[in-house]
Amino acid sequence: MSAEFPVYRAGRQLGIGSLNLNPGDQVVDLGCGTGLNFGLLKERIGPTGTIIGIDRSTKMLAQARRKADRHGWTNIILIQADATTASPAFLSASITSHGGKALSDATLATYALSLMKPWEAAWDAMKQLTRPRGSLCIVDMQEPTSLFPGMTALAQSACRLGGADITAHPWKGVERDCTDVTKASARSGHLQIRTGRRRSR
Ligand SMILES: C[S@@+](CC[C@H](N)C(=O)[O-])C[C@H]1O[C@@H](n2cnc3c(N)ncnc32)[C@H](O)[C@@H]1O
Repeated sequence: MSAEFPVYRAGRQLGIGSLNLNPGDQVVDLGCGTGLNFGLLKERIGPTGTIIGIDRSTKMLAQARRKADRHGWTNIILIQADATTASPAFLSASITSHGGKALSDATLATYALSLMKPWEAAWDAMKQLTRPRGSLCIVDMQEPTSLFPGMTALAQSACRLGGADITAHPWKGVERDCTDVTKASARSGHLQIRTGRRRSR
């Protein structure tokens, strides 16, 4: 996703809105891509807040960096890593070596875990990078439940082309492992949003 595809903005807005971010917070954006979440995150965490963008693609990260520079956003730490194979300890060390905190106030993944196999490994990293009682949010896609047939086919082929597995339902991780879980959906159920708090140790 290099430019915003309007259908998907609703999920991004709902997910980021549900994180209860405060000025100065540090947020991990796992599978950040070109940084489409950064503007919405920066509106909430302000100039003193920090975004940690993690992605396996150097091309995506280069675009994210250009976007941050263009907007004059500071405190954007970008880390190139495969979230399914990099150990949480490695990711954490990469963050602190760039001046970030080992544990973030919130962690989010939008339209990313359904591309990661196994998504459980990336979800484990999300949990381990978040402070106890910090927020965790997964925004992802499933088969639309009530779009008219043409739109359903369009959504299915867009996801297939992008490599997403829309049967994966990675938000199950939030439902299983977090407290204070909230649920939302958009686009006739195609977009699923789950947010919760990391359990205290
Ligand atoms: C569909 S894009 C979504 C990007 C962004 N989160 C958004 O909402 O626009 C999925 C992103 O996940 C990244 N990705 C896929 N598998 C990954 C993995 N195993 N580790 C880290 N990033 C991965 C891709 O490089 C891509 O940038």
